[in-house]
Amino acid sequence: MIRYVDGALYIGSYRARDLAERYGTPLYVYDTDHISEAVARLRGSLSIVGDVDIYYSMKANSNPHIVRFIYGLGVGIETTSAGEVYIAIESGVDPGRIMFTSPGVSLSELRYIIENGVRINVNSIGQLKMICGLDTKPEAIGLRINTGVASGHHRYVATGDPHSKFGISLEDADRAFRIAEECGITIERLHSHIGSGIADAEPYIENLSILLNLASKHRGVTEIDIGGGFGIKYRDEDPELNIDDLAEAVSKTIESWMKRSGGRSVRLAVEPGRFIVARSGVLLARVLDVFHRGGRQVVIVESGFNHLIRPVLYGSYHRVVPAENSGSREILDTDIYGPLCESGDYLALSRKLPKLSVGDLVAVLDVGAYGMVMASTYNSKPLPAEIMVSGGEVRVIRYRQGFRDLLSLIPKPR
Ligand SMILES: Cc1ncc(COP(=O)(O)O)c(C=O)c1O
Repeated sequence: MIRYVDGALYIGSYRARDLAERYGTPLYVYDTDHISEAVARLRGSLSIVGDVDIYYSMKANSNPHIVRFIYGLGVGIETTSAGEVYIAIESGVDPGRIMFTSPGVSLSELRYIIENGVRINVNSIGQLKMICGLDTKPEAIGLRINTGVASGHHRYVATGDPHSKFGISLEDADRAFRIAEECGITIERLHSHIGSGIADAEPYIENLSILLNLASKHRGVTEIDIGGGFGIKYRDEDPELNIDDLAEAVSKTIESWMKRSGGRSVRLAVEPGRFIVARSGVLLARVLDVFHRGGRQVVIVESGFNHLIRPVLYGSYHRVVPAENSGSREILDTDIYGPLCESGDYLALSRKLPKLSVGDLVAVLDVGAYGMVMASTYNSKPLPAEIMVSGGEVRVIRYRQGFRDLLSLIPKPR
């Protein structure tokens, strides 16, 4: 776990400074203890619901070592592209434990996914018709429904918005059931992911109730997937989804539906990404430059939105702390910028941080989800390395890119 011991930041049993010296910087470090703890917490809370399947949404972090570790905890894998399905299978995941949901998929990708026996939720009537036209059709599929219930930390992630591109509208749902029946496919599951970074149980329950109402009309439905989106605290004052409260409310809602439905039962599925991996990740970067302007300390570090885009894309907050903190240094109003040639390239603004110097190491916290997966080589800066800390073991899970990698797919210009 991440903590300070005598002014030195530790990730698990490793001093951050030692990891940076050994593996170089910028460096993504994941501590698997956080992942195991998050999965145990989820399991503990959701056990009250009875039959629940947990799928890890690998779009949050698709490194095969992370995927394999989480799968090893008995969790299925939720995917959104044929590439993710490929990585999951290469990571050793049984295709029957992979769920696929995507707003856009080509015919050849669909064939690949279905021929591998992956479980699929269709996002639109168009996708359903594509499946009906395949030579090899699945016996059963799920429908992603847009219930009109939306929530989340930013409008970019409020996928349940009725005007978003996600899911089949309630008006079209019965037509989708008819089309599926005509082509001999059972709709066994209703799916709805309403957003990300949700701090409140209420929209989940509203969404679940709408899905259960729809299931009442369609006896083939045996599974309800309420998606992911479970919010975490990025800073102390952030609200956080209380998973116990959510589980209790879900359990009551399903129980009451079962009573009204003459004892019919449904299995619940959830597919969190952030909740499982966000806290496990730390980005270590060195200070490249420091200057003082308008009474503020301006710090340029090795990583900007090329390595962590969340602050710029969503205005997200990540704690930034010095890896070595004697406590005796002066505390200053500080802005932390990346090295990119863009004025909007920042990691953290208006923070209280000790006086920093060139070469100091800083740690950006809670970056295990939507960190490295959204990284790019913008400004032709190679991607960082990733390492995984598991108890007393450290493993490199992605090598650092070099300049040559920037050109690896490009024929030499002549
Ligand atoms: C269909 C689906 N399921 C699950 C998730 C995971 O969301 P989160 O990481 O917020 O739990 C997403 C995220 O976009 C998603 O689109």
